[in-house]
Amino acid sequence: MADESINKGRRRFLTASTAVIGAGGLALTALPFVKTWLPSARAEAIGAPVTVSIAKIEPGQKVQVGWNKQPIDIVNRTPEQLKWLAKQDPRLRDPASKEPQQPKYCQNPWRSIKREWLVFIDICTHLGCVPDYEGAVKPEPWDPEWKGGYYCPCHHSRYDMAARVYQGVPAPLNMVVMPYHYIDDTHIEIGVDPSADEIKQIIAANEKLAASLAKGAA
Ligand code: FES
Repeated sequence: MADESINKGRRRFLTASTAVIGAGGLALTALPFVKTWLPSARAEAIGAPVTVSIAKIEPGQKVQVGWNKQPIDIVNRTPEQLKWLAKQDPRLRDPASKEPQQPKYCQNPWRSIKREWLVFIDICTHLGCVPDYEGAVKPEPWDPEWKGGYYCPCHHSRYDMAARVYQGVPAPLNMVVMPYHYIDDTHIEIGVDPSADEIKQIIAANEKLAASLAKGAA
């Protein structure tokens, strides 16, 4: 599957395509142009790493790519979406991400390596449906206090903008953040952890950022 789709939804979020420039690094660059944009079927079937360009994903946009036969969502969170993230904690089942649903380097308030970028497996932890991205901060039929997130129409589970599950819904756990790392500022590789040194730096940088934001909010 070389699936790449953008949720245009009912929202005003801009749309743009993002390049999936190859699986297993950049080894496909010598192939004809079209093939350089898509992971090979074999690579996806065996769950090989998938490299994605995030350069054209606008704030508020979601792009979905396939990895290991699963839908991976990449969301460029807006300042407004981020602003509401911490304020959702009292409504969530596992706000501090204590369950092992993410790598250690993403166990932070935004569940990601870089605060703006949410990258995770868009599969509901109830029975495995693919929840819809509902990024707008506005009252919704399923939640008059909706601050953006994911809504699973199967049995009405709700997740916030860090894919953390709300209380009082059938889904028991936050959605999974799989291993990934940044190749550079505009490319991520899904399926591969950062190096040990990078992990230390990521954890330290996010702890510092979280402390600074908490101080500012106090
Ligand atoms: S599968 Fe998502 S709520 Fe049941």
